[in-house]
Parts: sequence; C-alpha cells; structure tokens
Amino acid sequence: MELKNKIEEINASITATPVANKEELEAYRIKFLGSKSVIKDLYELLKSVPNESKKEFGQLINQVKNAAEEKFTNASENLKGTEKKESSSLDLTRPGEVNELGARHPLAIVKNEIEEIFNRIGYTVSEGPEIEDDWHNFSALNFPPDHPARDMQDTFFISKGDGKDPKTEMALRTHTSSVQVRVMENSKPPIRTISPGRVYRNEAISARAHCFFHQVEGLYIDKDVSFADLKQTLLYFAKEMFGENATIRMRPSYFPFTEPSAEVDVSCTLCNAKGCNVCKYTGWLEILGCGMVDPDVLKASGIDPTVYSGFAFGMGIERIAQLKYRVTDLRLYSENDIRFLEQFKSDY
Ligand code: DAH
Repeated sequence: MELKNKIEEINASITATPVANKEELEAYRIKFLGSKSVIKDLYELLKSVPNESKKEFGQLINQVKNAAEEKFTNASENLKGTEKKESSSLDLTRPGEVNELGARHPLAIVKNEIEEIFNRIGYTVSEGPEIEDDWHNFSALNFPPDHPARDMQDTFFISKGDGKDPKTEMALRTHTSSVQVRVMENSKPPIRTISPGRVYRNEAISARAHCFFHQVEGLYIDKDVSFADLKQTLLYFAKEMFGENATIRMRPSYFPFTEPSAEVDVSCTLCNAKGCNVCKYTGWLEILGCGMVDPDVLKASGIDPTVYSGFAFGMGIERIAQLKYRVTDLRLYSENDIRFLEQFKSDY
C-alpha cells in the first residue's frame, strides 16, 4: 500500500512540476528521468513487493515513467518553438550598418593617369629611393660642389659623408631627376621611362609650398632623339591629360642637367586660354620643366653622348591635380580630411 501512495504522489508531482523554461525543464529531467530519479527509486521498492503483486505494480510504475517522459518530450518541443520566436523577434527591417567605400587619393589618381598616358606610348615606370646620395641627386646631374644651382632646391641633408665621394653624402631627394641617373646607370638605350615619387624641400608649409610633394620624371634616350620629339611627346601628354583642345608653349629656361632647357605651359583649361584669375589673365599655366639631356649627364651615367641623345622632363603631380580639380591649397593633400578626400571618384 505504501508503494501505491508513493506512485500516486509522484504522479501528482509530475503534473504539478513546472517546465515553462530551460532551467525548469532541466530540474524536471533530473528529478524524474535522471540516474537518481524518484522513478528509479520506485523500481527499487518494487523488489520488495510480494511476487503475486509484482505485475500490477510494475505496470503502474511503467505508466508513471511513460507519463514523465511524455511530459518532458512535449515541454522540450514547446521550448524549441519559443526559442525560435525569441530570435525572430529581431527586427529584420532595420537598415544594416553601411560599409563606407574608400576613395583613391587625388594625387594617386593623377599619378596613375600620368602613368597610363605614358604607358600607351611605350614608357615603363621606374622608381628610386627617397633617401638619396649626393651623386644621384646632384653631382651626376651636373650640379658641381658649391654650384649656386644647388641653392635652387632647399635640401634636407642627412649626413655629410667623407667629403670626397659624393655617394657617401646623404639627403632627402629634392627631385625625381635622381631616378633618371639610376635608370641610365642600370640599363642600356633605348630607354623610355617615367619615375613618379615623393620629393622633399626645406620650405615653410603654406597654401602654395610644402616640405614634401610629388613629381613625375620622364626620360627618353635613343639614337637621334631631337627636341622636336620632346615637343611632340609633351603635346600628346597635354592633350591626353587636359583634353583635345589643349596646346602647349615652351619658354627657354635653365636646368644644370639639360641643354637646351625649357619650361612648358599648357593653355588654360579653365578659361579656354581667354584669361582668368587662375592663369593670371595670361591664358597659360606652367606645368613642367624639360630639355635635352646634357651630354655630361649621359657621360656621368655611363652612356656615350656621341652615339645617344635624349630628353627629360619633370612635373609636379600636385600642380597637375590643382589644374584638374581646382584645389588651390597644397596642405589639403596631406591633412587626411575625409570630407576632402571622398570627393575624388575616378577610374584611375
Ligand atoms: N628636376 C626639376 C625640378 O625639380 C624638374 C625638371 C626640369 C626635370 C627639367 C627634368 C628636366 O627632367 O629636364 O624642378
């Protein structure tokens, strides 16, 4: 009789035990279905029941066990349903977090465009070090020691060297013309290359000057290269860069490493050469320096000037970008202001 009461008690307890959440369900499982459950105890008690009643009680206990299992299975199923409901309570209509797309830096866009324009007529791209020795930045380019032309470019010197070998004196390069010497030293004509890169000058930073900026150097060395080739190449460049209507003019100038030398102006693209405040009412904008490579520079770089001739040119990337994008303050290029940088979208 004692067993019968116990069975009824457990039956009632199965019905009464709450299983509304994971924790309750787990407590229920341990109590009724675990390895030390109250139902296991019933089977223990069954052993002491007289043989003739074993069958009857055995069936009763099995019923309790089945009832306990059924409640567990149903409750588990129900809880799975509510879990799903919890996760679907996320608001899927909320806008996602936007991944901002970066934009290329305007100077990189212009550099890439210049590279592509010259690639189309067979120019390769070559680079050289920004920390350069005196030989490649000055001496080989016909700037003798103490030559006043060295003052044209305010140099950041790094180390004095031994006073004899210009390759031991180091500075931040003041122009990319240093790369033309390196290319001539390391390759044989015909040479057609452009060298983009950063250059440094000891200048106070203002809207119109900066202590670093970017240039592209051009170099063409072969037999029978003439000034006419130089002029035609630069006219091609101006039209590709600024449009079919662009024209150029050359003004005599001086650079130690070219003879003759010229400065090149492009017709003002903003006012169609009619005159505006950007071209200071001249109709022309200065864009680069150029000339025929001085025979002494060819010789210093290991190229025979009696066989070969060539031309070189150098332009500032900031200057070209200024004309293309009408950015008049040089400082904007290095301030990393996203509002400025994100305006430049381009294929280059
Ligand atoms: N290196 C010159 C400068 O920084 C620019 C230049 C002028 C480069 C004439 C040249 C050239 O190759 O022929 O001002």
